[in-house]
Amino acid sequence: MRKSYLVAAAAAGMIGLAALPISVRVAAQPAPPTAADQTDRMRLHQPLVVRGADGHGAPTLPCNTCHGPHNFEPAHVPGHPEWHLAPASMAWEGRSLGQICEQIKDRARNGGRDMAALLHHLGEDTLVGWAWSPGASRAPVPGTQAAFGQIMRAWADAGAHCPPQ
Ligand code: HEC
Repeated sequence: MRKSYLVAAAAAGMIGLAALPISVRVAAQPAPPTAADQTDRMRLHQPLVVRGADGHGAPTLPCNTCHGPHNFEPAHVPGHPEWHLAPASMAWEGRSLGQICEQIKDRARNGGRDMAALLHHLGEDTLVGWAWSPGASRAPVPGTQAAFGQIMRAWADAGAHCPPQ
């Protein structure tokens, strides 16, 4: 493996770690992962919400009760039409860059995405893109989603190697 691959993978990893929705972290909690968290301090979501069958919350209190299609600044409520908790299989908290790299390539854990779908999800999907314009006083991910997408594409074109575990 050439060193440049490692550098590209590490750069993508740094941005990617920051970009992964905060809700992805939560799923690393012991099964069954249920709750979402809020803020960079990762306090538990208040009021307590649960994952529900499909990540969109309980039937009686789905995420979109409060989360609209856009960020709602007066109340600091983030928004997106598809706002929901990421699948538990995408949890990455506490894992190394190499482990996360293998994980995002694994269709069993990445939402069934092949490389083309993965690149689209990371580089163009507006749900992931929320991380670059999170609203309120949340710190956005550095750079732009488009630039991140280009780095990921370069990584894929170079063989999608992963750093050692
Ligand atoms: C009863 C209303 C309500 C429901 C239902 C709700 N949320 Fe929230 N959520 C909020 C509010 C209000 C905030 C903003 C809190 C703040 O930052 O001041 C928030 C913030 C968040 C954040 C924090 C973003 C950040 O980094 O600060 C995440 C993640 C989140 N919600 C996920 C979810 C998910 C996933 C669901 C469904 C499983 C859900 N919420 C359901 C009211 C709700």
